[in-house]
Amino acid sequence: MRVHVADHPLITHKLTVLRDKNTPSPVFRALTEELVTLLAYEATRAVRVEPRQIETPVTTTTGVAISKPKPLVVPILRAGLGMLEGMVKLMPTAEVGFLGMVRDEETLQPTTYAERLPDDLSDRQCFVLDPMLATGGSLGTAIDFLFKRGAVDVTAICILGAPEGIAAVEKLVDGRDVTLVLGALDERLNENGYIVPGLGDAGDRLYGTV
Ligand code: PRP
Ligand code: URA
Repeated sequence: MRVHVADHPLITHKLTVLRDKNTPSPVFRALTEELVTLLAYEATRAVRVEPRQIETPVTTTTGVAISKPKPLVVPILRAGLGMLEGMVKLMPTAEVGFLGMVRDEETLQPTTYAERLPDDLSDRQCFVLDPMLATGGSLGTAIDFLFKRGAVDVTAICILGAPEGIAAVEKLVDGRDVTLVLGALDERLNENGYIVPGLGDAGDRLYGTV
């Protein structure tokens, strides 16, 4: 498994505002979108392309186009939805599938409550969006699900990750082709399974408390 942690002053600056508990939801949503677009640039580095011949006003030349089957972007509801616009801005021709997951805040175990994905993901490159990689239960389950459907490789974009979550996902993916792209690698989890220093509950900060 490859792990890429962003190292760019603009990303760190935006993350600092995102972490601030006084940042209101509209600003939090806008920053999440901007951060994802920046992280998506790195995350799509290995997107498959094929040669494409075009005519410029001057001559004929060969460029590239994104290969078929199209990449599949999979936001994990609810908080991953806040990352979708930022991702499709960079890769507008990608298709989008959805996974709804919620973590039990007592046991920290994830449950999948919704799934809207193609039945067959053979030969697909998948991009999973989930802002928080905490224990790794949610992301690990999502990645495993995509491989069982036939995905060839999975890249996950997370705004923040904890070392415990990375270790858990690594154990679960067991040598399969997975890349994690993180906005920052935080210190640890606290006793409630929250990322420290973190940003709190990403879903609540995007959409309010349910
Ligand atoms: C949050 C977050 C991740 C998950 C991370 O979702 O968006 O999906 O927790 O925790 P884990 O790594 O320990 O599994 P949550 O379950 O709060 O649902 P929500 O997005 O609907 O708020
Ligand atoms: N889910 C969140 O939204 N935040 C955390 O810190 C951990 C899990």
